[in-house]
Amino acid sequence: MNGFARTSKFRYNTHGPNLRSAIMLAGGNDDMATTGTVFGRLALGALGVTLASPGIVLAQGDAAPTYSKDVAPIFREKCEACHRPGYIAPMSLQTYAESRPWARSIKNRVETRQMPPWHIDPAVGIQDFQNDRSLSQIEIDTIVRWADAGAPQGNPADMPPPAVFPDDDVWNYADRFGGPPDLIIKSTPHTMPALSQDHWWKPTVPTGLTEDRWVRAIEIRPSTIEGRKITHHALAILVQEEDEADKASLVADGGAGLLMDWAVGKEGEIMRENSGKLMKAGSQIHWDIHYSSAGEEITDTAELGLYFYPKDAPPKHRQVLNIWMGIEGGPSNLLLAPNSVTTTSQHHVLPQNGRIENFQAHQHLRGKGMQMTAITPDGRSQVLSRVSNFSFNWHNNYVYADDAAPLLPKGTVIEIKSWWDNTSANRANPDPNQWVGWGARTVDEMAHAWVNVTYLDDEDFAAAKAEREAALAETTDTGAQ
Ligand code: HEC
Repeated sequence: MNGFARTSKFRYNTHGPNLRSAIMLAGGNDDMATTGTVFGRLALGALGVTLASPGIVLAQGDAAPTYSKDVAPIFREKCEACHRPGYIAPMSLQTYAESRPWARSIKNRVETRQMPPWHIDPAVGIQDFQNDRSLSQIEIDTIVRWADAGAPQGNPADMPPPAVFPDDDVWNYADRFGGPPDLIIKSTPHTMPALSQDHWWKPTVPTGLTEDRWVRAIEIRPSTIEGRKITHHALAILVQEEDEADKASLVADGGAGLLMDWAVGKEGEIMRENSGKLMKAGSQIHWDIHYSSAGEEITDTAELGLYFYPKDAPPKHRQVLNIWMGIEGGPSNLLLAPNSVTTTSQHHVLPQNGRIENFQAHQHLRGKGMQMTAITPDGRSQVLSRVSNFSFNWHNNYVYADDAAPLLPKGTVIEIKSWWDNTSANRANPDPNQWVGWGARTVDEMAHAWVNVTYLDDEDFAAAKAEREAALAETTDTGAQ
């Protein structure tokens, strides 16, 4: 038995039927036991949450949570990055007076896991992410009980200290790398009217690079504080000519790909050890920026800051962004009948051993969810991640934690499966009586996952797996005491 089998047995004892059925959905205990080390640590986040709950319940007894003592600390940590004056969310949640009127709506949004925007299914697949901003079940319960009790303020003396947010005017990694980014690329300016529907701004800008460079860290930020009010999210996609050999293997499924996506609260991205993105001479950045109006006319640009590896010390492993499509036979095969619920899927084969770094689902208004499953050459399958509550407003990128990013051998089949709801039950659906096909407009549909893969040769792959197994055994041993 490997370490993972012990972990999942342990989880069976502590979780109710929900997680058990989730595990069955995910391919059954058999698969988990034998492929756990390959796929990474699954659902350990959920484990911690459940274990902690009896203690908390005891400590709090039946007394209703108060804003000052119980709820404000959660808002500080999980909401205020967006819900504070001048930022993207429609209202501030920094004080009792500001929060109280929204108690009912807050209850609804957190209970349904629409807020904070984090739509990964908590019961299936990998649960350890670098950038997790979701609420634990305990936090959700606390907020719900608070709202149900009439949203009491409690004693203002119990308030946590104000949250400290990173300075918007500095580059977050400047200290770490000893200065501002090596290269800063700006999008062209865009003006958002005071009142307007959302805009998607997609300029292409040359990087100006005259030689190839390896990227080790990336930051994106709106250029001005004002700009933060309108910048919902920003994607920077790298466009460049690839060598023929790389085209055949590494970048067969897409292009050089996304460098980074930015949304409020995101610091930046540092590549995993000895891994990087290759930016070629003559490359370009294709921006995809989602702007929302903020009641006043604001003009802004977005800035991409790139830190490079030293020229004489490039990383060994190349990370490539795949755009894994989700319609067998290609986009023209997507056709959603009026008033129908449908699923679609497509399969992709890993050309090399790889570490899967993230999962980012892309659909439009009829899209309800997307799942990424790995079927290894030995025939076993495992759901890696599922977005079960897709919202077109939020193009969340779910970045796996270091020891959770799945390590998959060459030849692994990746299945991308999507759910669609073209009925009136889907509240985002503008018209359930339309036939809907593939297209760029929001009222058309799309289905693909943006997935970064770091490719590893056989030797490095074996080493990475051994390292993972050792780390996993350690975690499991302490966890099971
Ligand atoms: C990443 C930014 C972000 C974070 C973090 C976030 N929100 Fe929001 N929130 C928004 C935005 C933007 C909207 C408006 C668009 C929407 O509804 O999706 C919103 C809408 C809401 C609404 C609905 C307001 C209305 O008009 O009815 C509620 C309630 C809410 N958020 C509560 C929360 C709570 C509670 C948290 C923390 C537990 C939180 N949000 C975390 C950005 C955020």
